[in-house]
Amino acid sequence: MQSYERLLADNKVWAREKLAVDPEYFNRLVHVQNPEFLWIGCSDSRVPANEITGTQPGEIFVHRNIANMVVHTDLNLLSVLQYAVEVLKVKHIIVCGHYGCGGVKAAMTNHNFGIINKWIRNIKDVHRFHREEVDAITDEKQQLNRMIELNVQEQVLNLAKTSIIQKAWKERNVPHLHGWVYDLQDGLIKPIQEMQAGTHIDALYEFDDL
Ligand code: CO
Repeated sequence: MQSYERLLADNKVWAREKLAVDPEYFNRLVHVQNPEFLWIGCSDSRVPANEITGTQPGEIFVHRNIANMVVHTDLNLLSVLQYAVEVLKVKHIIVCGHYGCGGVKAAMTNHNFGIINKWIRNIKDVHRFHREEVDAITDEKQQLNRMIELNVQEQVLNLAKTSIIQKAWKERNVPHLHGWVYDLQDGLIKPIQEMQAGTHIDALYEFDDL
């Protein structure tokens, strides 16, 4: 059996097991998608949103990219965000990074990665914003992990800078924003930031005509 064929075989087993426990399982999911959460996570295969939070299909709307970035020109992210906020009306948005993130690690080097340079340039900007704190850490691993936390915080702030979030805050006082970091070593998530709906950010970024 080819490796990819195992995925298809295991899918059959999974579907059968779901039905065995709950014959209505798929019927229910077919008709409605009503997740309370939007997850913005890293593409890293070791950080799957549903598994690590013990959630089921239907519970989390998911967007993943390298180093869980919220880039304000990223049409993909913005489309997911608008749909999640305006149509699904999620109550919480979680930006979840992870310690040991290869994307952040790459951004802290001077290597030329080709196309990826353009993506991780955004992470280098996070480094520059927090240069004093990050560069003062002498232990390389600790420095990387602190950058990973700061990157999550900046991405939460990037969400708050969007007109999509500001408009929802003004009209409905949701969603609340959360910054989390997952630890590959023990499987635990560390919440590092919370931004309640309506939080005022730097006035430079606030729209007055939403
Ligand atoms: Co990563």
